[in-house]
Amino acid sequence: NGAEEKKGRRRPGEAKGFVEEMRIKAMKLHTRGQAKDGEAQEKETQQKPLPQWKPTVEGYIQFLVDSKAVYDTMEAIVDKAPHQSYAEFRNTGLERTGPLSKDLEHFRSEGYSIPEPTEAGLTYSKLLEELSESNPQAFICHFYNVYFAHSAGGRMIGRKVSEMILEGRELEFYKWDGELSELLDKVKLKINEVSNDWTREEKDKCLQETELSFKYSGSLLKLLAN
Ligand code: HEM
Repeated sequence: NGAEEKKGRRRPGEAKGFVEEMRIKAMKLHTRGQAKDGEAQEKETQQKPLPQWKPTVEGYIQFLVDSKAVYDTMEAIVDKAPHQSYAEFRNTGLERTGPLSKDLEHFRSEGYSIPEPTEAGLTYSKLLEELSESNPQAFICHFYNVYFAHSAGGRMIGRKVSEMILEGRELEFYKWDGELSELLDKVKLKINEVSNDWTREEKDKCLQETELSFKYSGSLLKLLAN
């Protein structure tokens, strides 16, 4: 029986803990050009190699505004913790609302106008609010991908785009208090702990959400990639 066989099979990364399963799933959704373990087809602008992007300061500011909308939502949800397990993810040191406010303030002081978030940030925020109530496994998937993507590819993108249009200035968005790898390791342990209580079906529900997470974060990156 095929279904039972599938059920019994060990998942890639399972022996190392659930976060490793999430990481493997996420890496596959990158294109080859984005990361060496990537398997996805390059279909959209933001999936093109970075040197082909045509970023502008205005587009970057819009990306930061929409990202801030998403981080504001994420961090408010964790504070409110509609499911008790989210309380584990308060004050991880990965929070981005504060640094993004400083960056936007800096651009404002240089004379740029700071726009409202677009549909991309607003739609993603709304989805996160809904999932945080109705589907905690899916919400944790978004939580993992939003914070870990930013610490990996997001940081690299920030550095390259800054070289292209901001004379290499490093934004607060890409600075953390303390050693980033230690902050990430602590959060990995917590996700592993929280997911320990999940059934295999619930874990799979979490993994399945990775595609949507890429879709919504990708729509934010489009603001920057043009
Ligand atoms: C890791 C690039 C978009 C989620 C990485 C890594 C690179 C990368 C270079 C590190 C690979 C390694 O350690 O071997 C990019 C680029 C992107 C992009 C260039 C778009 C232009 C995304 C998106 C998501 C995502 C949209 C999900 C929302 C992740 C995750 C990791 C990762 C979860 C693993 C981080 C870890 O190991 O701690 N990405 N990525 N990435 N990326 Fe992306």
